[in-house]
Amino acid sequence: MLGVKGLCGFFLLCLLTVTAWTLPSVSHFSVGSAHERGSTQSKKDNSVDAPVVVTVNLQQSLSTITDHFVGVNIDMAMVRGNWSSLDFSSTKVQNMARALTPTFFRLGGGSADSVTYVLDDHYYLPTSNNSNFSMTAQQWIAVNEFVKTVGWDFIMDVNELKRNTDGSWNPDNARQLLQFSADRNYSIAGFEMGNEYDIFENKFHMTLPPAQLAKDVVDFLHLLAEFPLYYSSFVVGPETASSRPEYFQGFLAAGGHKIVRAASFHHYYFKGRDGKLSNFTDTAVLDSLAGHVDDVLNQSRSVDPQLPLWLSETSSSSGGGTPGISDRFVAGFLWLDKLGVCASKGIQTLLRQDFFGGSYPLIDHALNPNPDFWLTVLYKRIVRGAVFNATGRHDVRVYAACANTDNFDAGSLVIYTLNPNSFSVTFDLPQFQSQPRLLHSLTAGDGDGLLSKFTSLNGVKLELVNDELPDLKPESAPPGVVTVAPYSYTFLVFPAARVSICLH
Ligand SMILES: *[C@@H]1O[C@H](CO)[C@@H](O)[C@H](O)[C@H]1NC(C)=O
Ligand SMILES: *[C@@H]1O[C@H](CO)[C@@H](O)[C@H](O)[C@H]1NC(C)=O
Ligand SMILES: *[C@@H]1O[C@H](CO)[C@@H](O)[C@H](O)[C@H]1NC(C)=O
Ligand SMILES: *[C@@H]1O[C@H](CO)[C@@H](O)[C@H](O)[C@H]1NC(C)=O
Ligand SMILES: *[C@@H]1O[C@H](CO)[C@@H](O)[C@H](O)[C@H]1NC(C)=O
Ligand SMILES: *[C@@H]1O[C@H](CO)[C@@H](O)[C@H](O)[C@H]1NC(C)=O
Ligand SMILES: *[C@@H]1O[C@H](CO)[C@@H](O)[C@H](O)[C@H]1NC(C)=O
Repeated sequence: MLGVKGLCGFFLLCLLTVTAWTLPSVSHFSVGSAHERGSTQSKKDNSVDAPVVVTVNLQQSLSTITDHFVGVNIDMAMVRGNWSSLDFSSTKVQNMARALTPTFFRLGGGSADSVTYVLDDHYYLPTSNNSNFSMTAQQWIAVNEFVKTVGWDFIMDVNELKRNTDGSWNPDNARQLLQFSADRNYSIAGFEMGNEYDIFENKFHMTLPPAQLAKDVVDFLHLLAEFPLYYSSFVVGPETASSRPEYFQGFLAAGGHKIVRAASFHHYYFKGRDGKLSNFTDTAVLDSLAGHVDDVLNQSRSVDPQLPLWLSETSSSSGGGTPGISDRFVAGFLWLDKLGVCASKGIQTLLRQDFFGGSYPLIDHALNPNPDFWLTVLYKRIVRGAVFNATGRHDVRVYAACANTDNFDAGSLVIYTLNPNSFSVTFDLPQFQSQPRLLHSLTAGDGDGLLSKFTSLNGVKLELVNDELPDLKPESAPPGVVTVAPYSYTFLVFPAARVSICLH
């Protein structure tokens, strides 16, 4: 809990930065103190430290992110449970899905290796969660009609375990799926083959060497060429789980780089069952991502400097997530930082595990939005275009990019910050000192603090209203320094910045 020292420190700060913060600071304080209940950390309260000076290098961009930068997954394991409670016909689900459009949507994961498409409407109940199972016509139709309705761009992870006796891939079952889909005019933007073959041996007691996968992708492209509807669909791969070069680089070097639209890999910070609350706000955990991405980028560039990179399956923790933590407000620190790091490093697309399912979904089992749903929607609405290098301080994170011109004037800049600390932090933005700004401050939505199932935007708890998203309006904040609440993340848009790179 905030001690007396913390209280004094905070109010002292408010007095010092009295600009016009009186009301917001009171609401920050009350929300901020509630956060403490979910915290296992006891950090020194240094809210009276010097402000963090943020400078953004606007002369050159690091990279550019498109409207398809953030996408979502649903794990093929959901088909084992007949889509579980995910009701594709629910207006509420469709409204939430549409809020993420445009987006790539991948249906894939480990279970893609075990499925048989049985499209004549037989249904075999799986005998166990580790065994082979079937996807029926009804299940396939349900997801495709949904994708069409909400306007998502589908990426299907096809069965790669169908092998001929000579070791080559057997395309018969995939051909049945494509024929069935083409007959119904289902558009499928892209495909993958299987999942995580670099750790395959452990799971299935067999290997699929990277050069074989590259060969299989060529066979798959030949299959796609049989269908006018799919001959221009793309493939991404090799979908590796680790950054070991043998598989990832090996696949690209074996010709993979010429046949995939993007090189794809997966990332989780830690195993779900090992996850502790403190891991989710630990800057050392945040720091572990950049090196991993550098490593993969390096491998990719050594084979093909131009090949785009996709982080095609990613979340906080692996193996379904960390129950009771990875679907709560606190998960947003790892998620938003991952978006910031990947944007800065030029990753073209990230696919969040999962839209639905597991312990890390954007929408929960009862089909209500989790905190990361709101964060993802806001990110897509606010951040798009050129990405800039911003300085910060090691215990906070600061990222900058052009603001999305669908929602903000051309030339607007967004600076987004994470404060994963138990103390408030003041940012000094000398380049934008006197400029108007639009504030989106995200804090825990109720007294459960970091473990809240809710998020507040500028102090107002976010909830659907009659199954529709509410307005996610920012509030105007006065010029000067910006103080952010303990355990908060914030998007600050400068609508009058007229950043030249953001004007074109
Ligand atoms: C799967 O769910 C659908 C829609 O709820 C239902 O019609 C169908 O009978 C279910 N199939 C099985 C095998 O439970
Ligand atoms: C599969 O796993 C789910 C959830 O983990 C469980 O509810 C279900 O009973 C399991 N099914 C079988 C057949 O073991
Ligand atoms: C699962 O299916 C694959 C091919 O679809 C087959 O090679 C494998 O033996 C099957 N595994 C089991 C346990 O039936
Ligand atoms: C097939 O779908 C596309 C859009 O995905 C649409 O433009 C086209 O008219 C459809 N064709 C038929 C025959 O329904
Ligand atoms: C998560 O926190 C626990 C408990 O503090 C720690 O032992 C573990 O190393 C942390 N995990 C990571 C990935 O930092
Ligand atoms: C990237 O690769 C080069 C050689 O290809 C190597 O010298 C460098 O250390 C690598 N960097 C990282 C971060 O792996
Ligand atoms: C960003 O700026 C910092 C400080 O000037 C510098 O150390 C760092 O290398 C820059 N990063 C990139 C990716 O340019």
